[in-house]
Amino acid sequence: MISVQEISKNFSVKKGFFSRERMTVKALQNVSLEIKENEVLGLVGESGSGKSTLARVLMGLYRPDAGHFIFDGKDSRTMNVNDWQELRRNLGIVFQDPASSMNPWMTVEQIVSEPIVIRKKLLRMSRAARRDRVAEILAATGLTAEQMPKKIHEFSGGQRQRIAIARALVLKPRYLILDEPISALDVSIQAQILNLLTDLRREYRFAALFITHDLSVVRWFSDRVAVMYLGRIVEAASAEYIFEKSRHPYTRALAKSKLDTDFRSRDFYALPGEIPSPVNQPPGCPFAPRCENIVDDCSREFPSQRTGVTALDTYACYNPVVA
Ligand SMILES: Nc1ncnc2c1ncn2[C@@H]1O[C@H](COP(=O)(O)OP(=O)(O)OP(=O)(O)O)[C@@H](O)[C@H]1O
Ligand code: SF4
Ligand SMILES: [Mg+2]
Repeated sequence: MISVQEISKNFSVKKGFFSRERMTVKALQNVSLEIKENEVLGLVGESGSGKSTLARVLMGLYRPDAGHFIFDGKDSRTMNVNDWQELRRNLGIVFQDPASSMNPWMTVEQIVSEPIVIRKKLLRMSRAARRDRVAEILAATGLTAEQMPKKIHEFSGGQRQRIAIARALVLKPRYLILDEPISALDVSIQAQILNLLTDLRREYRFAALFITHDLSVVRWFSDRVAVMYLGRIVEAASAEYIFEKSRHPYTRALAKSKLDTDFRSRDFYALPGEIPSPVNQPPGCPFAPRCENIVDDCSREFPSQRTGVTALDTYACYNPVVA
């Protein structure tokens, strides 16, 4: 299990292109969540809500300013080099734009076998065994061994994402982070990749953090869903009823905007009002400027997490929607 406990991450950025003054972007604020064994946790939120930052913290690419996570019983604050190696081996990642994370001069075989090659001293896998593993994982993702000598530019967007998934799975990790894996693809291809992930999950039994800005796809490929808004988790619930029975006004607004608009349209997040800046946030609930349920308490401080429809579900709101 991966248990994220009260993680905060700030970025110091220049106020303007020519300015020397700096300001603080609060990308993650007291974020807590759990990715259980064999479970897919969907992480939904608008652009800039902090989803990729959380993924990077889990990969060890960013050090949190506060909080920590527990990975299979190991505390991120005290993990040594070997523990981080073990974590990275067991945590595959797939990005939105696969080509940007792949060397255009490398063949598919080299790209997919890269995680093995990097750890060759540790894994001691023979060349033949490595080739077999790459062929096996390519076949599982719908590609063929004949495609191994080809370069990435010879493939379509959907095929490139299959190659990225093969690379993320080649070490048979127990966890996958899928950071918007289908957002850049045509709608017809999106469904194919989601189906592929569903099949692979059955075969390889990984748990996953499935990051998306599209609430309509989380139901397809998640057991539970956490909703982020401006660096905070505002609600976490079972994927089954995140649409109908969620308590947080933001989750409801997302669900409603989904029903009102075609999910393929760019207007998907046609919620009223602007998302506030992650810099200099006023105290209280960050959703207040857009919220129809606002009450006096909302401007005081961020609401604490309350129990939702079942004991496992939580939401942070002073005046929730009636379930
Ligand atoms: N390396 C960085 N330096 C400065 N600011 C950053 C950095 N990375 C992220 N941010 C800021 O942190 C906030 C969260 O960004 P993040 O990329 O995690 O959001 P996201 O939810 O993944 O968005 P998207 O859906 O657009 O991918 C944003 O305001 C972003 O501008
Ligand atoms: S805390 Fe207040 S402003 Fe925030 S979502 Fe709930 S009712 Fe709306
Ligand atoms: Mg992102």
